[in-house]
Amino acid sequence: RPIAVESARSSGAQAGLSLTQRPRRNRKADWSRRLVREHTLTVDDLIWPLFVIEGENRREPIASMPGVERLSVDQVVREAERAARLGIPAISFFPYTEPGLRDPTGSEALNGQNLVCRAVRAVKAAVPEIGVMTDVALDPYTSHGHDGLLSDGAILNDETVALLVEQSLIQAEAGTDIIAPSDMMDGRVGAIRAGLDRAGFRDVQIMAYAAKYASAFYGPFRDAIGTSAALVGDKRTYQMDPANGAEALREVALDLEEGADSVMVKPGLPYLDIIRRVKDGFGVPTFAYQVSGEYAMIEAAARNGWLDGERAMVESLLAFKRAGADGVLTYYAPRVAERLRAGA
Ligand code: PBG
Repeated sequence: RPIAVESARSSGAQAGLSLTQRPRRNRKADWSRRLVREHTLTVDDLIWPLFVIEGENRREPIASMPGVERLSVDQVVREAERAARLGIPAISFFPYTEPGLRDPTGSEALNGQNLVCRAVRAVKAAVPEIGVMTDVALDPYTSHGHDGLLSDGAILNDETVALLVEQSLIQAEAGTDIIAPSDMMDGRVGAIRAGLDRAGFRDVQIMAYAAKYASAFYGPFRDAIGTSAALVGDKRTYQMDPANGAEALREVALDLEEGADSVMVKPGLPYLDIIRRVKDGFGVPTFAYQVSGEYAMIEAAARNGWLDGERAMVESLLAFKRAGADGVLTYYAPRVAERLRAGA
């Protein structure tokens, strides 16, 4: 034994630092750590995004998102049943639109029989108790991969908003519970709210992608819905500059004024400061999107044996709760729900 330890022991209570506060006392055992724990992750915090493809009995792996698959509608229904069994409150859909159906104006977005609408109807018929959320934006449907109408290299705001209102109505008719505009056009929340109310969809919620940044972390998602090769230029004239914080609060304020029921910050982990500011500043239901690139980063490292993927998954999700989020959209939803159910 080192001499210092021996002499500390032999001189008894007098040895060592004279400290009134020893924070380690609360951490000394599992029972104590559980008692003082400030935040918990539960299954009620989860929204699970799913990718939908044409076909039947089809499950297609996504190379840049190992463990995540594109699913045909019948398989989406199976997963929705699993989500409901696990107690996941809501799921959300993103379509892989057949390339032949993509055009410059994203007209497939307005087809009431498109993949997303069929998935909504099928899930609502089979699993009525689960919440269904659908994305409103044109990018899965446009040949250029942008969220809005493109004219001479510019994204047209007001013309796009008119289409987004139509897209919202078509999704509401299919039975969606939450409309989630992810396009970042100005004024779209107000226009969609008015359109829904006029058509009698007063109870359809709006979760605004209020603070959505122009982020590198969407890369794998664009592979998943097949827009990465097509995308002309970037989305920086409508998605936010990662350098900005105060601007996010302004976006949130506008979306709430326009009628949003809840707001989202996206991506998640690199923007925890924004989540905290939004929650503290507005006190409204605030969600985080742990996006495809965040998922891919953890999985890539885990699959290389460079970190413990299970622990990184739980730690990253808990961080959203600590930052003030009420819930998280995450591709880990079923995996973490299984784990929570097992009591781990
Ligand atoms: C489309 C949309 C995107 C995501 C959700 N909705 C991509 C984008 O804006 O390019 C990203 C989700 C993810 O990366 O997991 N408007």
